[in-house]
Amino acid sequence: MNGGTGSRIVLRNTLREHESPFDLSGDTRAGLSSTPKTLPSKYFYDARGSHLFEMITRLPEYYLTRAETEILERESGRLVEAVRPTVLVEFGSGAARKTRILLDAMVDRGLLEGYGPVDVSAEASRHAADTLLRDYPHIRVEGVIGDFERPRDLPFAGRPRLMAFLGSTIGNLEAEQATAFLASIRQEMTGADAFLIGFDLVKDVAMLESAYNDEAGITAKFNLNMLRVLNRDLEASFDLDAFRHRAVWNADASRIEMHLESTREQVVRISSIGLDVAFAAGEKIRTELSHKYTRQSAGGLLDAAGLTLESWCTDEADRFALALARAVD
Ligand code: SAH
Ligand code: TRP
Repeated sequence: MNGGTGSRIVLRNTLREHESPFDLSGDTRAGLSSTPKTLPSKYFYDARGSHLFEMITRLPEYYLTRAETEILERESGRLVEAVRPTVLVEFGSGAARKTRILLDAMVDRGLLEGYGPVDVSAEASRHAADTLLRDYPHIRVEGVIGDFERPRDLPFAGRPRLMAFLGSTIGNLEAEQATAFLASIRQEMTGADAFLIGFDLVKDVAMLESAYNDEAGITAKFNLNMLRVLNRDLEASFDLDAFRHRAVWNADASRIEMHLESTREQVVRISSIGLDVAFAAGEKIRTELSHKYTRQSAGGLLDAAGLTLESWCTDEADRFALALARAVD
């Protein structure tokens, strides 16, 4: 804690509660025993993974962050005027850099009282809370270190809240999961609240694929970090040189799919759960999905979750959109 700021930060850790949905052992056993093999992407984000993700957001090929920033810089004032929130609650907040554009628009209108980040990464949450309090010394930070798919006791109930889900993190959920997540937040919303959601848009395949196959190999490191997490936390024996990063566009499902592909036939021992996993040469573990939307598909998703689209803003080049939604009465 920084001297003087500590009393205004509350970070509630819901990961260690006994009903915690974060079960690395169980999820790894289930995911690596299924066909095709999968691992849940929430396990990317240890301290190293969160750092690598920050590097991804600065890559020349990774247009998403810049496009969303462009929209936020242009539209934040208008969005904040339309909602007049006193607090911002953000899911998957990470380093909370783009967040500042919204916070500044709230400060400019004399509205900002609090910020409630909800993120699985303890390191990212602590760091974001500390640096934000340095720059916004009068606000209260009520963060939750936990799973945004289990929203319980969201911060600042009873105040007009702007909920935010930036970075097209919505796209990392399966379609049914995305609907369920939005519906669960919608349940928590009153008529005074609004929900701002970032959607990456369907576009040229080469541009999409290169965003996830950068020249510098940072996305590959980020993907392979999952295996380091298993080596460390489950005493697994993954040879990081025997797997490679793959990211390909699946047009039917309108999504980029990320895999770790075994470069040879091999057996990997996962000691702490007593599991041996056999891989054929070329066999893949699916680690991430990144769905891409159109205005129509995003609108359909919001509808299915009981939300209604109030405004839709894209960047100049039509790569990314921010949707402002309200709970349907
Ligand atoms: N909002 C930031 C970060 C996006 S990366 C941006 O737009 O750049 C996704 C973030 O969501 C990471 O910080 C990760 O730790 C968090 N995250 C991923 N799955 C999560 C889950 N199930 N519950 C809570 N946070 C999650
Ligand atoms: N939601 C963003 C996206 O899909 C960020 C992200 C999540 C990401 N997981 C990732 C980026 C894996 C690269 C690799 O682009």
